Amino acid sequence: MVDYDGEAPSYDATRGGEPRARAAADALERLLPQGPCTLLDIACGTGIVTRELLRPERTVLGVDRSPGMLALAAQRVPGGTACGDATQLPVASGSVDAVVMVWLLHLLPDPAAVLAEAARVLRPGGVLITTVDKGNAYFVEDSDIARITAELRRQYAPRVTDRVARVLDWTAPYGLELVDETVFPGTGQGRSPRSWLKEIDADGIPWCTHAAPDQVAEVGRRLSVLPDQDAPRPDPLYRLIALKA
Ligand SMILES: C[S@@+](CC[C@H](N)C(=O)[O-])C[C@H]1O[C@@H](n2cnc3c(N)ncnc32)[C@H](O)[C@@H]1O
Repeated sequence: MVDYDGEAPSYDATRGGEPRARAAADALERLLPQGPCTLLDIACGTGIVTRELLRPERTVLGVDRSPGMLALAAQRVPGGTACGDATQLPVASGSVDAVVMVWLLHLLPDPAAVLAEAARVLRPGGVLITTVDKGNAYFVEDSDIARITAELRRQYAPRVTDRVARVLDWTAPYGLELVDETVFPGTGQGRSPRSWLKEIDADGIPWCTHAAPDQVAEVGRRLSVLPDQDAPRPDPLYRLIALKA
């Protein structure tokens, strides 16, 4: 996993900044209960999304295990942050109306314990909202890059820890079922063939890291001969699901 303490100063600027945060918050808002409620943002990071969820009638708490990220969140959500691990939340059982997790599950080797903990803190009837299928976000819309990379991504799919089918399997024992979903755009995050090649060369793409080197080399070759090498393809579309018991 990325060293988020080291990443904190550049995190916002490199992850779509305020436009991404507002788009994420708008999408979360469509899935959240309206009116007074207690909301827990697990893995709130710098709080760039958490801040957008503040409402006078809402009690909001952001939890993250990275002190570097959390220091920035504390400025954005004064009095509304706590340092803690998602597998051991500093929150009472059955005490929150909504749990939000944006861009966490895909990072975890095994999200089962985190999902169990999210279920523990939810009130009966509460909602758990999480991003899923993050790695697929760049390929929701068809493109030449989506077609060239499809086979490597298909091979990697069983390892994807935020795959929606797996998340539903992990949450089913707590009676949590899919009730709604939406997407938000990663505005301005669309990548060109050249930027994908750079990421692949830097070992930054999981579905390449785990693939046979000759397959990765062939995908690289095909990316390198695409037209419009510096033209970004469609912006990613990040998927959010809402689960309720
Ligand atoms: C990609 S960032 C997402 C931050 C924020 N949700 C956002 O959308 O900007 C992932 C965050 O998860 C946090 N994180 C990773 N594993 C965690 C864990 N087990 N418990 C708490 N936080 C964790 C990291 O410290 C980091 O801040």
